[in-house]
Amino acid sequence: MNVVIRANEDEVALYAYDLVRDRIIHEQAKVLGLPTGSTPLKLYARIAEGFKRGEIDFSDVHTFNLDEYLGLPEDHPQSYRYFMEENLFQFINLKSENIHFLDGMTDDIGAECEDYEAQMDELGGIKLQILGIGRDGHIGFNEPGTSLNSRTGYVTLTEGTIADNKRFFAEDEDVPRWALSMGVGTILDARELLLLATGANKADAIAATLEGPVTSMCTASALQLHPDVTVVIDEAAASKLKNTSYYKKTADDSEAMAKYLANARRKAGLE
Ligand code: F6R
Repeated sequence: MNVVIRANEDEVALYAYDLVRDRIIHEQAKVLGLPTGSTPLKLYARIAEGFKRGEIDFSDVHTFNLDEYLGLPEDHPQSYRYFMEENLFQFINLKSENIHFLDGMTDDIGAECEDYEAQMDELGGIKLQILGIGRDGHIGFNEPGTSLNSRTGYVTLTEGTIADNKRFFAEDEDVPRWALSMGVGTILDARELLLLATGANKADAIAATLEGPVTSMCTASALQLHPDVTVVIDEAAASKLKNTSYYKKTADDSEAMAKYLANARRKAGLE
């Protein structure tokens, strides 16, 4: 895993923006996986600014969001579809037919989730999946205890999540108790993963993800099994890591390695 530690949230967003822009410019198949939540907000703001400056073009990009609440229509202010419109989609030139979202109002959950995965397959799979992480180590809505092989499906929200959401709803009975989410296995199918985390309240989850055992009790720990992961975190989120000096040493050292090898080959008369 490539672990990049930056001073603060702004630096994390800047690094993530450069990576996303690079992949959109250089990858032929442009299929992005996106999270909601507070973590990606600064990245989305940078993408919107970058689009305005003409640095990034979404005209042939497809997006798949990780999750959606069950029982909320897309125009509900608490729906994740609404969140994406407010914070990103309205600012860029993504075609509406290229926005892929789980339908929280579906009358056939099984078919909806199967179809979502089929849409990803048709496009050759997600090339870059961006992720946030919950304080309990969840990715998508995959709460502790979810199988690390899980596919897109419905998930039962924890009492904590339900309680946190109550303030957004007039009626208690309207608060979502379930959500639809890409599974951990679905997330691991993406060609490349980019996990973002900022703030001291994510420090335990980041330590468990990077340095703990691979366990369904911290679904983000499954990232240890993926061959191409970049984790971009600020100093606060990195504060409980033990292997920090090695991460700092290895981050972005490919240029130094190439120089060293070229020199060694020259000395050995191979170049
Ligand atoms: C949301 C999602 C979640 C969040 C996580 C962190 O689409 O996938 O896993 O990334 O709950 O949320 P924030 O960023 O609000 O701390």
